[in-house]
Amino acid sequence: MTAPARILVVDDEASLRQMMDVLLRRMGHVVEQASGVREARERLDAATTPFDLVVTDLMMADGTGLEVLDHARAISTETQMLVVTAHGSVETAVDAMRRGAYCYLEKPLSVNEARAQVEKALEKRSLLKDNVSLRIITRGLTPEGGSGSLIGRSTAFQTAMEFVRRAAPNRASVLITGESGTGKELFARAIHTSSDRSSGPFVVVNCGAIPADLVESELFGHEKGSYTGASSKTLGMFRQADTGTLFLDEVGEIPLPLQVKLLRALQERKVRPVGGTMEIPVDTRIVAATNRDLAQMVKDKLFREDLYYRLNVLRLHLPPLRERREDLPALIEHFRSRFAAENGRAFVSFSPEALRLMLAHQWPGNVRELENAVERAVTLAQGARSSATTCRPSSSAPRASPARESCCCRPRGCSSRPRSRTSSAASSGRRSSAPRAYARTRRRTWG
Ligand SMILES: Nc1ncnc2c1ncn2[C@@H]1O[C@H](COP(=O)(O)OP(=O)(O)OP(=O)(O)O)[C@@H](O)[C@H]1O
Ligand SMILES: [Mg+2]
Repeated sequence: MTAPARILVVDDEASLRQMMDVLLRRMGHVVEQASGVREARERLDAATTPFDLVVTDLMMADGTGLEVLDHARAISTETQMLVVTAHGSVETAVDAMRRGAYCYLEKPLSVNEARAQVEKALEKRSLLKDNVSLRIITRGLTPEGGSGSLIGRSTAFQTAMEFVRRAAPNRASVLITGESGTGKELFARAIHTSSDRSSGPFVVVNCGAIPADLVESELFGHEKGSYTGASSKTLGMFRQADTGTLFLDEVGEIPLPLQVKLLRALQERKVRPVGGTMEIPVDTRIVAATNRDLAQMVKDKLFREDLYYRLNVLRLHLPPLRERREDLPALIEHFRSRFAAENGRAFVSFSPEALRLMLAHQWPGNVRELENAVERAVTLAQGARSSATTCRPSSSAPRASPARESCCCRPRGCSSRPRSRTSSAASSGRRSSAPRAYARTRRRTWG
């Protein structure tokens, strides 16, 4: 049972509107009705606080439910939306999802199904409400829709956001685990941004990218002349991150001999620069990340157990994208609008076919792979602006997309034209396979 919500029901058939109205009022909600797209827009505009939920028919005499979705979404991204239609098809369902619809209900309506979906959508709405304060803080540093925004809808994503909110005010170390490209660094930034250290620095050290013999001086600094080539004194990342957060990326790569020094720095909150005699106090919060199994590394004696426990005080695990597919529509739309805006092609959109393929793909490279794939597709669409209005990047999802299928994106508003077929590139499942496949097609199509 959810708390009373304000719901707008949009349908040009009075009987169906009435039926939904009765159902929702019985559930204890406050309902307004609109008999078409124009009236829906007026009611959305007139509302002093955004509706919690919009339930809209898809095909109406004066327009489509997708227009209602777009209008509601422009007013508030927290408003949930359910689309009802007698014209069920993959294309419209996918398009509705892309525009933020929570779910798709087919006519004739089953009362039980409608009730269940309304409850689910409202549960999601209340989760979003709880997270509003956190998003506002995050927005302060990363404009909505910008490259630092955290996007997602799945329960796993909501749980991670809840973790950020709880972990932020602490000083305790955080260990973020997850496959490559799941968003570990983005979440680390969110923890920093949401904390009272946000005015301090956020310093990133990629422990895997520094030569083993330089890691100590990178982390703790060095005195002038402390080793060959140390021509001047350096502060080191710990001290650079003083009053802020130090993000130790790929922490599993820290050489064993140095792990004891790192542990000491964490325990004592002091660092000793290479070649120095004094220990210098630092006030740095540590967020570490790894895509390796640190517990197994401890068992294999490749990682110190005491350091593992010291880093693992608070733990955030980010599941792979294939296990939180609910995040896909929002992420696809986020990257589409970002790259379309960056390329001055705001009208570029994905065809239903392209969306269907993207929603079915396993994304072994997670959000990074998706981001790259969308960027390439948007770039290809841009290249298509003169004669051909379609582009045909091959799919990298062999299981989900048979060889004869392909991805396509076209400027919104253009009708679909006959497209040349390209065979799907066999993918080895490596994370860069999609971008490569897209690039291959580009060469074939435009080069
Ligand atoms: N929830 C999300 N919303 C928006 N963008 C995201 C999200 N998660 C990840 N990204 C984007 O995906 C890309 C990869 O994310 P990030 O670098 O944080 O992953 P990672 O887990 O640190 O990867 P790696 O282990 O390879 O370092 C980044 O461009 C990031 O902005
Ligand atoms: Mg990373």
